[in-house]
Amino acid sequence: MTNYAAVLLAAGLGTRMRSRTPKALHRVCGREMVSLALSAAREAGLENAVVVTPPDDERFRAALGDDALYAAQSQPLGTGNALMQARSALKGVDNIVVLYGDTPLIKPRMLADMMRRHAESEASVTLLTSSAVNPDGMGRITRDADGNITAIVEHEYADDKTLAIREVNCGFYCFRAAWLWQNLERLQPSPNGEVSLTDLIEVAATLGMGVVSVSSDDPHEAMGVNNRVQLAEAEAVMRRRIRKRWMLAGVAMPDPSSVYIDFDVTLGQDTVVMPNTHIRGRTRIGDSCEIGPNAIIDNAIIGDGCTITASVVRDSMLENSVNVGPFSHIRGVSHIESGVHIGTSAEVKNSRLGRETKMKHFSAVGDADLGARVNIGAGAITCNFDGIAKHRTTIGRDAFIGSGTMLVAPVRIGEGAATGTGSVVTRDVAAGAFVAGMPARKVPARKPSHKPSTDKSLAKAAE
Ligand code: UD1
Ligand code: MG
Repeated sequence: MTNYAAVLLAAGLGTRMRSRTPKALHRVCGREMVSLALSAAREAGLENAVVVTPPDDERFRAALGDDALYAAQSQPLGTGNALMQARSALKGVDNIVVLYGDTPLIKPRMLADMMRRHAESEASVTLLTSSAVNPDGMGRITRDADGNITAIVEHEYADDKTLAIREVNCGFYCFRAAWLWQNLERLQPSPNGEVSLTDLIEVAATLGMGVVSVSSDDPHEAMGVNNRVQLAEAEAVMRRRIRKRWMLAGVAMPDPSSVYIDFDVTLGQDTVVMPNTHIRGRTRIGDSCEIGPNAIIDNAIIGDGCTITASVVRDSMLENSVNVGPFSHIRGVSHIESGVHIGTSAEVKNSRLGRETKMKHFSAVGDADLGARVNIGAGAITCNFDGIAKHRTTIGRDAFIGSGTMLVAPVRIGEGAATGTGSVVTRDVAAGAFVAGMPARKVPARKPSHKPSTDKSLAKAAE
């Protein structure tokens, strides 16, 4: 389909949203509306796309990346004027598919149907209509006695008879490019001063150039979002679709209505998502996990067989068989290796926890690197902030950090070392050594008691 390109119109002010953010950048299930429309266009085979945006708004490029082309509309002078701005970027394209940036629920299959119908006909324009959506605020489709489309009448200009028409314009069109550009530049502004793309339909009908329509009977897919009530409706529809997709793919949800999953999340087979759980951003969760109840997982990568109960995990990676919670918080690009247990009311920030490390109760580990099989006792803390700067703590494998230990960073605890209950550790501790007190000092003849080390040299060092 090399001779087709998409144009997404997203430069409107979105006054009805009452927001400082442009309407098309409001999110539905974690993705900007215009980004959802763009993804649908791409999935329908439209690789080339031009997005019409307000001038100098870097937020669009941040949301959509560099794969799309951008055209700026200097003033929001209507959908017809917006489309005109994309013209120079579309030289050599034979057919133009227009979408609006406020229609996040469109399905690729519907766009593909519209393009197929357009390709089969001689019409200058093919458009998507629906009698199933709520017609409030939408342009009405008028037809003659033979059923041919004669015009789109915008809600604000419609008389009572026209307002009673259920069939509306959904805002998706296929135009033959040569015809479009020739006639678009001739369009006159409407009484509200805007050049409306929808006026082209009457032009095509009057010229006898043929207007073809395809219709959607889905009450939501073609809905436009103009205010925050409609935004919430679109979010609810998308949320249902996402849950259904994952349940059919093998994810269990005992109470789907209380599960919130963003558009870009992926979930593995036999994972269970318990009630009141939010899975956001680009989170990826593996197989056979139990997530929730009451969990928030945001931009995290989680392996297989993990359990996260009533806890928050953000911007972090958990390998396989990690248990977290209840009431714990993992954040700030932390990396938790396999088999780690993080229990009640623990916080881990910007840290790496080695395999099978345990921190089971009321502890805080920030800016730290922990080896394998470290035991963090109840209430132990890496004191990483001196009021001005952050410092790192390093804890070697098989170390035992006694309850209530304060590790005053920067500090290094050697492999197999141990600290006594309530120690305040202000200096590095050698491998296998035992320190205690405030400030902590070396105490002789104390063997690490929590777990025999597999490494003989460590056991020896402790003697
Ligand atoms: C539009 C249609 C209406 C249709 C409805 C479907 C027109 C004139 N009306 O109405 O027939 O039933 O969509 O949802 O097209 N935009 C610009 N520049 C502008 C104005 C708008 O880029 O100057 C963009 C907006 O960002 C938006 C899209 O065009 O993404 C549609 O504009 P909007 O104001 O939402 O039109 P509606 O009133 O919904
Ligand atoms: Mg709209």
